[in-house]
Amino acid sequence: MTNVRALAARVLLESERRFVDDALEAQRGAGLSRRDRALLTALVYGVMRHRRTLDWLIDRCAARVHPEIRQHLRVALFQVRYLTRIPRHAAVHEAVELAKGVSRKSAGFVNALLRKAADLPLPDSLGVRTSHPDWLLQRWQGRFADLEAVLEADNAVLPVSLRPNPLRAKAPIEIEGDPAADPRFQAGEYTVQDATAMLVAPLLDPKPGERVLDLCAAPGGKTTHLAEIMGGKGLVVAVDLPDRIGLVEESARRLGLANIRCVAGDGTRVSFVEPSDAILVDAPCSNTGVLARRPDVRWKLRERDIAGAAGLQRLLLENAARLLTPGGRLVYSTCSLEQEENHVDLPGFRVVKEVLTLPTALASGGYRALAVKGAGGA
Ligand SMILES: C[S@@+](CC[C@H](N)C(=O)[O-])C[C@H]1O[C@@H](n2cnc3c(N)ncnc32)[C@H](O)[C@@H]1O
Repeated sequence: MTNVRALAARVLLESERRFVDDALEAQRGAGLSRRDRALLTALVYGVMRHRRTLDWLIDRCAARVHPEIRQHLRVALFQVRYLTRIPRHAAVHEAVELAKGVSRKSAGFVNALLRKAADLPLPDSLGVRTSHPDWLLQRWQGRFADLEAVLEADNAVLPVSLRPNPLRAKAPIEIEGDPAADPRFQAGEYTVQDATAMLVAPLLDPKPGERVLDLCAAPGGKTTHLAEIMGGKGLVVAVDLPDRIGLVEESARRLGLANIRCVAGDGTRVSFVEPSDAILVDAPCSNTGVLARRPDVRWKLRERDIAGAAGLQRLLLENAARLLTPGGRLVYSTCSLEQEENHVDLPGFRVVKEVLTLPTALASGGYRALAVKGAGGA
């Protein structure tokens, strides 16, 4: 039988070199039950979210810790300090047993450390208490009326939200467990999408019969939403990089949306003979609005990546401006909270609406803006 906590420690060790979701996905073949898979994700995501706090506790109790032992300590301490349903003695016992597999003498060390760290009070440092990097807190300090609420939301376990496919769903949908295993998902009755992400396609207000362009489409959450709002009529041209566009094709097929045409290409340079009536640029970004759903981002992102993302976003917007018909609508959106990434200042365009949504315990944060191209614009 697979030991879920041992697997969690292994995935966490691997996540230091790759994305946590890729490391988790690699365990799909491990033969886990639905319940164990959910526990594995909860442990890995939980440790990732609270990693700085957990490491502070560990480092207060020991000067040096073997990297594999650290993963077992993180997993155990996360359960002890943040989960109510797992008895403390069970979490400690399991970590002690797993530590024996690393070295026999680690067992006593792990036992003593966990008993001490379990009740240690946390320091005043906001970064340690809420498990965020200091550079990000310094950026956010003074920007949000309630910064602590944002930080708390980043550590929340967000609900899975569903967007029914109006062309296929017959009844309201509620699910339990992994949607990939649900026959209604396979039958294209719904898409799993964050509630804030669901607000982007309606802002573009695509009409049946229009030609709509989605310049950064994969995996297709918003492309398919646009196509559904259009009632399957007209055309949504979906562009993304060659190694990603297949995901959109797969979503369109699953949802039975024949009005999506996929194009592998670079959104900063792609061109079409016919201009589009409406364009969505859902740009690649720093992802600082989705830290709860992507818990390793806060540790992998560097401050200079924000300027890099803003440069690419600018090129995508400039190309979108060229591809839009006069009087056409442009929606620009990101999953970022950063000011450098969240504005539309294209010559000849008028911004009609812009919203920055902060993350909550129910949905992610993000930015979206609607702009209209004037008759002589861009
Ligand atoms: C925020 S994601 C898009 C999410 C998508 N709109 C959805 O709702 O499912 C950004 C996407 O931009 C794509 N991307 C990055 N650079 C690009 C480029 N130069 N041209 C087109 N797409 C690009 C990435 O591959 C990624 O799929």
